[in-house]
Amino acid sequence: MQILVIHGPNLNLLGTREPEVYGSRTLAQIDADLIEMAAKAGVTLKTFQSNHEGALVDRMQAAAQEGCGYIIINPAAYTHTSVAMRDALAGVALPFVEVHLSNVHKREAFRHHSYFSELADGVICGLGAQGYALALQYVLGRMGAAT
Ligand code: DQA
Repeated sequence: MQILVIHGPNLNLLGTREPEVYGSRTLAQIDADLIEMAAKAGVTLKTFQSNHEGALVDRMQAAAQEGCGYIIINPAAYTHTSVAMRDALAGVALPFVEVHLSNVHKREAFRHHSYFSELADGVICGLGAQGYALALQYVLGRMGAAT
């Protein structure tokens, strides 16, 4: 089984984007750590980032056809706006964990609502880049992979 990690808009800027909010690790570093962690458990992990809603929807639809069994997603700003991405995840019926680097509940009110959370197996927010690793640890355990 494969795992797909999806990153939404502006997460390509991690490292320089508001480091006091999102930390100093780059997206490339975060992805490399996740790929290595999954590989150690004998699992293939792919990553995808886009600033475009339609591209993110297309990637989710393709994931189901490629044999991906689980998604870890940070929808970024689309968390709070995208019915299309929520419908894509519901449509492909792949289980997923929602991750946010920042604690969205400690921030502006418009960040408190997520279109994804009620469909997610779980939500991790506010733990920085470690949140992705914790999500992956959960998914590998659930898959029965050797961790
Ligand atoms: C984010 C939180 C969102 O509100 C924001 O729009 C992002 C990143 C996070 O990881 O903390 O782009 O998803």
